[in-house]
Amino acid sequence: MSFDLKQLIRPHLLNLKPYSSARDEYKGTKGVFLDANENSYGSVTTEGNYSRYPDPLQHQVKEELSKIKGSPAAQIFLGNGSDEPIDLLFRIFCEPLKDNFIQTPPTYGMYQVCADINNVQTINVNLSPDFQLRTAEILAAVTPHTKLLFVCSPNNPSGNSLKEEDMILLLESFKGLVVVDEAYIDFSAQESFIKYLPKYPNLVVLQTFSKAWGLANLRCGMAFASSEIIAIMNKVKYPYNINGLTQALALDALRNIAKKNDYVARIIAQRKVLETDLARLPFVKRIHPSDANFILVAFENANELFAYLIDHEVITRSRTKVILCDDCIRVTVGTEAENEVFLNTVKSFYN
Ligand SMILES: Cc1ncc(COP(=O)(O)O)c(C=O)c1O
Repeated sequence: MSFDLKQLIRPHLLNLKPYSSARDEYKGTKGVFLDANENSYGSVTTEGNYSRYPDPLQHQVKEELSKIKGSPAAQIFLGNGSDEPIDLLFRIFCEPLKDNFIQTPPTYGMYQVCADINNVQTINVNLSPDFQLRTAEILAAVTPHTKLLFVCSPNNPSGNSLKEEDMILLLESFKGLVVVDEAYIDFSAQESFIKYLPKYPNLVVLQTFSKAWGLANLRCGMAFASSEIIAIMNKVKYPYNINGLTQALALDALRNIAKKNDYVARIIAQRKVLETDLARLPFVKRIHPSDANFILVAFENANELFAYLIDHEVITRSRTKVILCDDCIRVTVGTEAENEVFLNTVKSFYN
């Protein structure tokens, strides 16, 4: 497979001169800082001082991440949630009204939303009924204007991991970028595709602080890719896209990895409990195998059950209208107590 990144990037971005911030131009930390038009007296808040612009390239967080993920800091991008790198990939690689991308429904909804916002055509190649990639159909759908292929593993909303050999085949056969969204990778037995970055220059791996790390509110997503891809993402992003509080808390979290691992173990144990208990219920039609922190379950009278759950203040996600997800409700694995409330309310609906 020949891969030429320069051919893939929208031509007008190849020579883009990025914004040069005060912190790009002077990197020292000591002195009287009168270069960024900040408020030198401090912040108008009860606590804390946020008057200084944050590190535009989040060096400390990336150094710590690099140790954990085994990927050099220059191959890491941080964004405002995973949504930012998803949107940036469309803006960098897809020419509106000309280029297209492939996704494999049922899958995460933001790929299509970002494509629509950027006026980029979506090509859908549905997963198989057991939620695996149909690689031959995907490759047959590629056109000369297909720039991106998004695959999600473990997949939202089905919960399963995609077969590694299928994703490898796509990486080896598709000349555009293969974006592997690993938002739920911590809950999976499968290893991250980050290990394949040295081998595949067309690979982008997305991860997030929103799930296993328990930091959805902070809005911090990660992209791992070649240093060339990361460099162009850094050029196109807003200068200070990750605020200082988020950087500080992400760093704190990364230094507390044992707590993350403990939460993951608890969530996986609770997922097993939920699966076992649901399997005993006669009105449960199918429990889809999950490698994530949620389970997709097909119920009898799913629409009515979903409404009943809401009436009883148990909020799940109806997926009944989603392709291949007939009669399905997606339920996040909660705490022991929350799962008990969910199960008891489900049972009371059918009694
Ligand atoms: C597959 C997938 N990718 C990305 C995200 C978004 O993550 P973030 O909170 O980092 O934007 C989600 C959120 O639900 C998701 O399901």
